[in-house]
Amino acid sequence: MNVSIHQDRLNRELHELALISDVPAPAVTRVVFTPADLRGRTFVRELCQDAGLQIREDAVGNLFARWAGSKPELPAVATGSHIDAIPNAGMFDGTVGVLGGLEAIRALVRSGFQPRRSIELLVFTAEEPTRFGVGCLGSRLLAGTLDASGGERFKDRDGNSLDEVRIKAGFHGPLSGVRLPAGYCHAFLELHIEQGPVLEQQQIGLGIVTAIAAPASLRVSIEGPGGHAGAVLMPQRHDAFLAAAEIALAVEAAVLSSGSEDTVATTGVCEVFPGAVNSIPSRVHLEIDVRDIDQTRRDEVLRKIDRALAAIALRRGTAIQTEIINADPPARCDQLVIEALRRGCQIHGAAYEFMISRAYHDSLFMSLIAPAAMLFIPCRGGVSHRPDEYSSPEAIAHGVLVLAEALAQLAE
Ligand code: GLV
Ligand code: MN
Ligand code: MN
Repeated sequence: MNVSIHQDRLNRELHELALISDVPAPAVTRVVFTPADLRGRTFVRELCQDAGLQIREDAVGNLFARWAGSKPELPAVATGSHIDAIPNAGMFDGTVGVLGGLEAIRALVRSGFQPRRSIELLVFTAEEPTRFGVGCLGSRLLAGTLDASGGERFKDRDGNSLDEVRIKAGFHGPLSGVRLPAGYCHAFLELHIEQGPVLEQQQIGLGIVTAIAAPASLRVSIEGPGGHAGAVLMPQRHDAFLAAAEIALAVEAAVLSSGSEDTVATTGVCEVFPGAVNSIPSRVHLEIDVRDIDQTRRDEVLRKIDRALAAIALRRGTAIQTEIINADPPARCDQLVIEALRRGCQIHGAAYEFMISRAYHDSLFMSLIAPAAMLFIPCRGGVSHRPDEYSSPEAIAHGVLVLAEALAQLAE
């Protein structure tokens, strides 16, 4: 099989997609179901149509682009990732797996390869938790780990429900219909930038992911009476922001006490109400992200945070409410899919290393319904979720070549 990757074209497409954003380049902001996200979807959909793939979109906007195999009734081999981007992100997170996955399929078509199983590109809705607080919304629904009540339950910061927003974006039908039937996928492979420094530091071309760390996230709301910044004396205050500041430090302390550098937590959202310099904060909204490759240790940190919240509420006389948005188990990747990627690396002379993904991905949920594994490409300085995120066109093309090889093996 003579597979060649059109590196310049892929690079051009990645840059074109990066310009579909709410902020000036090189930063990218493309939050789910905003006009930028919808334009990004149109861009990808048209490329898939140009490639001759059959398109289908489900009720939450997950896109499926299929190259039918000679035995279309067999479970398909799927690849893909996401195109939504957190505020002030870079241009490679997710998009490399979508446009790279598409290029892998186009390269196989060009080579004359005839798959027995269909090969399908998946573009997942809202891998990023920015708008609705929960990451991997599309893949959770595909895997059936989220019930249809999420459509009403999940609200953005303006109070719009997921159902309202998706229907306005043109995605109708019950969310219960998103779940994939058992045995839909023969295998799932996700190409992604590493988002960490290991491959670059060790000068290894590609990473084959064997496990994905377990993510959890919390929303915390803190309320106090507020009041005038001059008139209310310090002993009479129940400042919601000072309670929030203590919470952020307690989160850090809980993580540092885990005894492992694999435990991490971040208080990444802090909204202060009313947000006036001469008004004591009366309401604060925090969002906290906690992860570990070891679920037991991660859950112990969650319990410590919970105890700290109760103590802070009492000491500061503030009301504190916590909602656990998600607390997912880690994923183990599948040996057969790992082996297909390993053979792909060998065939193309690519140096590889087995590694763990500390970031989460749609593969975390796809692994619940299909044998799954991931392929990582190095990124400069390990930088991600920042505008200066960068992977070279050569490194991306190399990953796409190995992906194409693995897809072909699994679809044969
Ligand atoms: C995914 O974007 C993550 O935060 O790991
Ligand atoms: Mn991301
Ligand atoms: Mn991603």
